[in-house]
Amino acid sequence: MKHIYSKVAVAIGCSALLTFSGIATAQKPVVIKFSHVVAESTPKGQGALKFKEVAEELLPGKVEVQVFPNSQLFGDAKELEALLLGDVHIIAPSLSKFDRYTEKVQLFDLPFLFDDMDAVDRFQHSDAGRSLLDSMTNRGIKGLAYWHNGMKQLSTNKDKLSRPEDIKGLKFRVQASDVLEAQFRAVDANPQKLAFAEVYQALQTGVVDGQENTWSNMYSQKFHEVQKTIALSNHGVLDYMVVTNDGWWNGLDDEMREALTKAMEEATEHANNLAADLNERDRKRIIEDNKAQVHELTSEDISVWREAMQPVWKQFEDAIGADLIEAAVASNNK
Ligand code: LMR
Repeated sequence: MKHIYSKVAVAIGCSALLTFSGIATAQKPVVIKFSHVVAESTPKGQGALKFKEVAEELLPGKVEVQVFPNSQLFGDAKELEALLLGDVHIIAPSLSKFDRYTEKVQLFDLPFLFDDMDAVDRFQHSDAGRSLLDSMTNRGIKGLAYWHNGMKQLSTNKDKLSRPEDIKGLKFRVQASDVLEAQFRAVDANPQKLAFAEVYQALQTGVVDGQENTWSNMYSQKFHEVQKTIALSNHGVLDYMVVTNDGWWNGLDDEMREALTKAMEEATEHANNLAADLNERDRKRIIEDNKAQVHELTSEDISVWREAMQPVWKQFEDAIGADLIEAAVASNNK
């Protein structure tokens, strides 16, 4: 009898344990860390928050999306490495920051490649554009979506910024991109690769004289407070690829992967719909602040910049692929 009781007790104990651990597992949400380097008020910041909102709505109690803005968790230099190590699950670096993993994505940095954001959007939706989302899977990085920020403008701590000769010899901060480095060399300026989080101080202390960025990034980082002139150059695009760790993504169960895919689609639509408005809002704020002077360029000025920077295309044609460049150029024709 005693023997039976103890067997029952063991059985009850085990089932309680099993039930307990079953409940514990079911209740513990999967934590998804989404890290980025910009402010929450920017298109990327808003996109990341939307992804959190929709993912947690679609998978109640099953996921917790933790968003870390402003390089809080990882800055430019470390975020891709951290993704590969599994320390973060989703990041959205600018398209300029992948050249160690794929030379093809360097395409987006070619100066004056796209006429406007509509052309960028058309290219990203084309087969050629979509194929780039898979260009790093052999390195463990899966592209989930493109997110817009916008066209870049040039800024310096000088009064004059109309023609390439105005930046001759000036030190320019560039993102970690060989194409952007070549772009500034082509106009006899001195490019210096710096992480985004270091740019404000570098501009303030004169470590660099100028930089290129979108209105939303300039305003949210207060670059206009430490620059004298911003030229409306629209000479290149600053957009993002939202990427995840391929192994982690494929290891998720189907229900979760499908819901996260849906959440990413909604977040992409949200960020991309907002991007132009947020940049326009921040362009106006910069003008109202009246700290840096916003300078319009004539179409002649633009042609001179375009011609001076054009040799960069040839320089990177083999690495990027002539076909891909052609496909991008074709997206300028509506
Ligand atoms: C930059 O480094 O200037 C940008 O890529 C920052 C960002 O993520 O928009």
